[in-house]
Amino acid sequence: MSSDATAPQARRLGDPPPAGLLDPAERMGPDELRELQLRRLRATLRHAYDNVGHYRKKFDEAGVAPEDCRTLEDLARFPFTTKADLRETYPFGMFAVPMEQVRRVHASSGTTGRPTVVGYTEDDLSMWAGVMARSIRAAGGRPGHKVHVSYGYGLFTGGLGAHYGAERAGCTVIPASGGMTARQVQIIQDFRPEIIMITPTYMLTLLDEFERQGIDPRTTSLRVGIFGAEPWTEEMRREIEERLDLHAVDIYGLSEVIGPGVAQECVETKDGLHVWEDHFYPEVVDPFTGEVLPEGERGELVFTSLTKQALPVVRYRTRDLTRLLPGTARPAFRRMEKVTGRSDDMIILRGVNVFPTQIEEIVLRTPGVSPHFQLLLTRRGRMDHMTVRAEARPGAGAAERESAAAAIARAVKDGVGVSAEVEIVDPETLERSVGKLRRVVDRRAD
Ligand code: DLL
Repeated sequence: MSSDATAPQARRLGDPPPAGLLDPAERMGPDELRELQLRRLRATLRHAYDNVGHYRKKFDEAGVAPEDCRTLEDLARFPFTTKADLRETYPFGMFAVPMEQVRRVHASSGTTGRPTVVGYTEDDLSMWAGVMARSIRAAGGRPGHKVHVSYGYGLFTGGLGAHYGAERAGCTVIPASGGMTARQVQIIQDFRPEIIMITPTYMLTLLDEFERQGIDPRTTSLRVGIFGAEPWTEEMRREIEERLDLHAVDIYGLSEVIGPGVAQECVETKDGLHVWEDHFYPEVVDPFTGEVLPEGERGELVFTSLTKQALPVVRYRTRDLTRLLPGTARPAFRRMEKVTGRSDDMIILRGVNVFPTQIEEIVLRTPGVSPHFQLLLTRRGRMDHMTVRAEARPGAGAAERESAAAAIARAVKDGVGVSAEVEIVDPETLERSVGKLRRVVDRRAD
């Protein structure tokens, strides 16, 4: 965001919400919040045990009963839930209310097998709109703002989740959904939204389209971008903020827990995402042993829903890697550090763990290449091999491309600890994102 003191006031939407716009839970002290969480947690465990056969069986097998949870720490005695539990009971077997009370379902496709199906009662939908509205306010959204929603509408939770949250926040929604990129640019130019909700990689696609149409993206009406649904780095934040002259903040969520709106970065601090802990109780566990880790240690994020009716989740293993930190802008709520990747995104290359975000950091720091890149995995003999394919910036000459390739290869070797081949391809040759981007092309089995 430009710090130009002469910038018109309207460009800056970085103030925290006035106290009157905060939810009561956002103003709670830590003791009051813990007490609320424990009460809600006990009710959730009871609801899951009484109404979902699958939970009853798992609790019985683990030798725990809902009343064994007397403190928040006792939650660690309860078994984990994973995507496999939802697949096993596909489609509706984990629902805890009769189908007549389920107002909506969503589904997430995942990479393999059946989708996981999630359901919402009327109260669940209202709670979701509430936490999304809170997220939009934390990002700088205010009643009267126009919100352009480019998350896909449909079974994916992104579009409809953002939509009802923005309405609840008193904003005007532009339900653009994903795709038809040229038209998205036209609508932004004509309708002049202050806020955009979109995946960071689709934002890059829109940015290129602005430039293709001869529009300077820094001159648009957009002041805040709420980016999520896939991992992104501080380098990507800098790239997007610089090219669009807006505040870029992070939003996190997953279908199984509710959808977007589980945690949100506050625009005034941009220091990680506050977890809306009055509805979603976070733990970070050792991904191998399952042991709960103390605040500040990195591991796998696990969530227990505290108020959900249709699909209560108990210790749901997200596979997302992060750590918990104390609250700042909302002192009662702990923060989660930006998610650097999922344990199932991790590439193990000749014994070294590599996350696509590590490569993103490097590519975005390298002059001469654009932020578009792809990781190609192949097998040569018995060895796995990674090629980083990055696009040249328009106008980059042969010498600049060559030095970019060398710089990326060196940074990957020194910073990540593996040798990779680097291919600098022509501008506009790599696949563009219209939602969540698949960074890794795995041809090892071919
Ligand atoms: O992606 C919900 C969402 C929509 C979040 C729009 C934010 C914005 P799923 O399709 O179930 O739900 O995918 C959830 O996406 O476990 C993470 O691996 C990843 N993810 C979501 N937000 C972030 C983020 C939606 N801010 C999975 N940073 C999660 C990194 C994210 N990864």
